[in-house]
Amino acid sequence: MSFKTSELHRRYHVAILGATGAVGREMVRILEERKFPVQSIRFLASRRSLGKKVRFRGRYYSVSVPSRNAFKGVDILLASAGKEVSRKFAPLAVREGAVVIDNTSCFRLDPKVPLVIPEINPAEIKKHRGIIANPNCSTIVMLVPIYPLERVNPIRRIVVATYQSASGAGARAMEELRTQSRDVLAGRPARRSTFPHQIAFNLFSHNSQIGREGYNEEETKMINETRKILGRKDIAVSVTCVRVPVFRAHSEAIYLDFKRPMSAARARRILRKAPGVKVVDDPRRNTFPMPLEVSGKDEVFVGRIRQDLSSGRSIGLFVSGDQIRKGAALNAIQIAERLIGNV
Ligand code: A2P
Repeated sequence: MSFKTSELHRRYHVAILGATGAVGREMVRILEERKFPVQSIRFLASRRSLGKKVRFRGRYYSVSVPSRNAFKGVDILLASAGKEVSRKFAPLAVREGAVVIDNTSCFRLDPKVPLVIPEINPAEIKKHRGIIANPNCSTIVMLVPIYPLERVNPIRRIVVATYQSASGAGARAMEELRTQSRDVLAGRPARRSTFPHQIAFNLFSHNSQIGREGYNEEETKMINETRKILGRKDIAVSVTCVRVPVFRAHSEAIYLDFKRPMSAARARRILRKAPGVKVVDDPRRNTFPMPLEVSGKDEVFVGRIRQDLSSGRSIGLFVSGDQIRKGAALNAIQIAERLIGNV
């Protein structure tokens, strides 16, 4: 379907695929909070959720299972039910005339599919052919604060280590962190189900598959998606992804090597004005971004803005952003807002 800015007062038929998951539930909240112009809404999930209800604007809606007919009349499908579910159902929804904003990795690197962070490359939205991809959460949390710096002084190399929350692996993984923590404190053995290792009181290399070159899928996503979003095939990205026992915000220690000299003071000035960014950088009180404080917030928080003592062209940052909101649900709905010309 096409969306014209002349249709400003139009309301839309929306569906959420994966509505019972961590991201899907946040999408419901954000549609309400931001008063998205919804005409009708449909909630889809797996068979496990049949019989469940989702509350939206004071009304309760039954959850249904996606099928061939589930997308008839839908204008916008927000998909967050995993790659294989999107592979199967996104093309069906597009055939029915919907625009799919897909929060899985299924189409992100497809050259015909825009991969969008609205603060960075909003113009890509218009180029869609039915599907718009929402980037990986760690990629979003990294790129929102570094793009304003890249614009004034091209980045030659990024070196980043992530501290990723359980929420990135979904609602069941968050529950696993809660249950394991209780069990360990009560002297019971920690039971594993979603994660391959104990997450409570521990951390481990990201739980995605390791490829031939020794990088896990999450690391590969951050490298490839960064290049696509910035339109910089040449940018060097060196990344280590780690899962930590935090519920819902990802943090990252980032080093940026610029083409020309860059001071911490200039970086701080730029970041204070950057859209979607909040600077929390108080060395005197040793207070910097923390996942607990950024949970539930829309901005990516940035601090520890400092010169790399080994190079006048490099600076270090520590960032933290709510993985479920800006890393997933909020970014998707910001794309939808731009799609309908509401921004
Ligand atoms: P369900 O809750 O019924 O399992 P999370 O990332 O938090 O694990 O959420 C994943 C979301 O995707 C949930 O809403 C989940 O539904 C949904 N989902 C998983 N598998 C399917 C499937 N085969 N068809 C439709 N929805 C699915």
